[in-house]
Amino acid sequence: MKEREFLFLKPNTVRRGLVGEVISRLERRGIKIIAMKMIMATKDQVEELYKEHKGKDFYEDLIEFVLSGPVVVMVLEGPRVIDMVRHIIGNTDPLKASPGSIRGEFGMSVTKNIVHASDSIENAEREMKIFFNEKELVEYRLDVQHDL
Ligand code: RTP
Ligand code: MG
Repeated sequence: MKEREFLFLKPNTVRRGLVGEVISRLERRGIKIIAMKMIMATKDQVEELYKEHKGKDFYEDLIEFVLSGPVVVMVLEGPRVIDMVRHIIGNTDPLKASPGSIRGEFGMSVTKNIVHASDSIENAEREMKIFFNEKELVEYRLDVQHDL
């Protein structure tokens, strides 16, 4: 099966006008977008998304923040796409993320760290189903050469 990754751009990314910048970095890397939409996430959706963090001290602030404005949710596809995307976005803490990464370049705080990306195949499949149904995932040929 082709590897798929769930990613969402947090509300500060939309408010700061960085949507195109982030998408552009994924595209230039050769990563294929197979679903994408801008939505106001619901409390149920974000609680399900972040259920592994329930009870942690940052949880309530994180939930409130991701409900504070529109987010862009996406499904990506490509060889080793999960590791690739996590490499491109950088460390959770923008202060530790390498300067060339998305979080290292645009992030200021851990909560407002620009994007969320799933960390395993199981979580990616689980998380994309919170926001998309299978019919919304499109198939097409991407015109780039992966020399893997
Ligand atoms: P993400 O899931 O958002 O891609 O980020 P991640 O794997 O790098 O980080 P994770 O540990 O899964 O945390 C999820 C989100 O929770 C917020 N967080 N705040 N204040 C804190 O100590 C803290 N730790 C995590 C971040 O916004 C992170 O993206
Ligand atoms: Mg995570």
